[in-house]
Amino acid sequence: MANQFEDSFHRKFYYLRLSVTDVCNFKCTYCLPDGYKPAEKQKPSFLSLEEIKRVTAAFAECGTTKVRITGGEPSLRRDFTDIIHTVASQPGINKVAMTTNGYRMAKHAQEWRDAGLTNINVSVDSLDPKMFYQITGENMFHQVMSGIDAAFDAGFEQVKINTVLLKDLNSQELPKFLNWIKSRPIQLRFIELMQTGEMDELFNRHHVSGVSIRNYLIANGWVLKVRHKNDGPAQVFCHPDYQGEIGLIMPYEKNFCQSCNRLRVSAKGKLHLCLFGEHGVDLRDLLESDGQRSALIDRIQNGLQEKAVSHFLDAGETGMTPHLASIGG
Ligand code: GTP
Ligand code: 5AD
Ligand code: SF4
Repeated sequence: MANQFEDSFHRKFYYLRLSVTDVCNFKCTYCLPDGYKPAEKQKPSFLSLEEIKRVTAAFAECGTTKVRITGGEPSLRRDFTDIIHTVASQPGINKVAMTTNGYRMAKHAQEWRDAGLTNINVSVDSLDPKMFYQITGENMFHQVMSGIDAAFDAGFEQVKINTVLLKDLNSQELPKFLNWIKSRPIQLRFIELMQTGEMDELFNRHHVSGVSIRNYLIANGWVLKVRHKNDGPAQVFCHPDYQGEIGLIMPYEKNFCQSCNRLRVSAKGKLHLCLFGEHGVDLRDLLESDGQRSALIDRIQNGLQEKAVSHFLDAGETGMTPHLASIGG
């Protein structure tokens, strides 16, 4: 096995977030308010199944054990089930996760599970169908809820929910969300709105810190769970009376980047060292044949040495990600 991917701050990367498409059918106000529009005139060419196999195999050879398939909306790809199967088949990969808007889950959860999917994160920004529509631009609340039921029926033991905290939109819904997870094995994570390109106004109007939720939880008997080495960015709270858990993702908190354990590859084959920051290392020309594996690994390892200790030290880059749909969140 080649050396494990490691940056110059001795952070090891066992987790790859692989975007397979920029296309999305939702219009979340904080992400794609006008819907998906391809940047170029010609049809965008996203990584093929073969390219996905090669990039995943290279990461697996260097210590990656978990791949999260993201988008856009990854399930919009016609070969999505084959993608799951391909990723799951790479030796060394033991977790295959996806982040989805839930649109196709009611129909396909079982098929995806059978293909090797192990974990699902679903975006649910409101439990009020009208507010859900206002935030996502789509009237899909009930379909997404059925999808979550289908995931449990298919045998997923836990489902994670992503809720972007938005002042004056969903910020009053905490009691509803708590009630929802009381007897369901859901980890509901409130994500602070992140400032991405071209959304200053929305950010100033709707950004709200997760601190008040944290204070509420602590005052009401919720206990912060001990973090493990490979845990993600969420601070997770549990409560003896609740089957579900609450997570807080607060990227503007000090030291958020210290435990960074993930790398990202975009749907067009660029390695991104951080969610914030637009430039990436192009890998595509090294995804043409299996024989390029060691050159590919070298390029990733060299690129990794440029990873900054924190996205906030690199002030020029903070907020430059145009929208999270192009880098998979
Ligand atoms: P697990 O793999 O289940 O731990 O989930 P995750 O939180 O890594 O994945 P998910 O795709 O559900 O991510 C939820 C959101 O957390 C992302 O869309 C981002 O908004 C945020 N997030 C995840 N990773 C990072 C990161 O490295 N930096 C920042 N700033 N935010 C992140
Ligand atoms: N701020 C915070 N979270 C965001 N997401 C997308 N854009 C933003 C943003 N600007 C989250 C969505 C989804 C995940 C893929 O990314 O909630 O769950
Ligand atoms: Fe689509 Fe996800 Fe962006 Fe919403 S947050 S528009 S579901 S990519």
